[in-house]
Amino acid sequence: MAKITIKDLYKMKENSEKIVMITAYDALFAKIFNDQVDMVLVGDSLNMSFGGHAETIGISVDEMIYHARAVRRGLTHPYLVVDMPFCSCATPQLALKNCAKVYEKTGCDAVKIEGGKDFAATVELLSKNGIAVMSHIGLRPQLSRFQGGYKVSGREKNALNLLLDDAKAVQNAGAVLLLLEGTVSSVANEVMSVANVPVIGIGAGSCDGQVLVWSDMLGFFDEFKPKFVKRYLNGAELVREAVKNYANDVKKGIFPSEEFEYLK
Ligand code: KIV
Repeated sequence: MAKITIKDLYKMKENSEKIVMITAYDALFAKIFNDQVDMVLVGDSLNMSFGGHAETIGISVDEMIYHARAVRRGLTHPYLVVDMPFCSCATPQLALKNCAKVYEKTGCDAVKIEGGKDFAATVELLSKNGIAVMSHIGLRPQLSRFQGGYKVSGREKNALNLLLDDAKAVQNAGAVLLLLEGTVSSVANEVMSVANVPVIGIGAGSCDGQVLVWSDMLGFFDEFKPKFVKRYLNGAELVREAVKNYANDVKKGIFPSEEFEYLK
């Protein structure tokens, strides 16, 4: 299977072929996802489901690089995007320094930056320097502490215009992909109508493609389930059951049996 490039993603949009994206944080799961999806995101959501924190804020550029390198080793086929953590792109110059490091050290295809119009200058500088950017607009998890929670975007008055301005500004600045999170589907449709780059949605109805966080959709993170998540597996339940059986076997002396012992 050939490696998916940005040209393939544009062709898929042109042919109305849906693009499938999933997050991954390590080589083990990346290898499993490799043949099943078109795109993989090393999201800063790993700070929550992998790191056990309550929010995405707190992960460093170097920690993202560590995980992205592991994911890269597990992939041969999908287009790889790496998330830029909180405030790592606070100014265009800082963004260039941090994104260049991520781009060089991980071999990713694009970096993802949360922000619209206010980050257009950053997107432009990165694009001019040959770094492909996926702009993350709509609900921005890195703003959750500032905003007092996760806010579905596009419901307030004038919100549609603001979101359209964001989409147009980053696109004109050179963003090669858009990630649209947490907005009502009628608003997402409007964004789609102005977008000439593929729009990957999460909690935003049907876009050119979809992304889900692997630990949510496979049921490993089962503390709560956002409305937009469809669970395809009860991962946590299956693992608990398996580990219970293992513990039971060890306690009862059933495991290890002769079958699992080295013989002379
Ligand atoms: O960090 C993340 O996993 C994300 C999601 C929107 C997919 O950005």
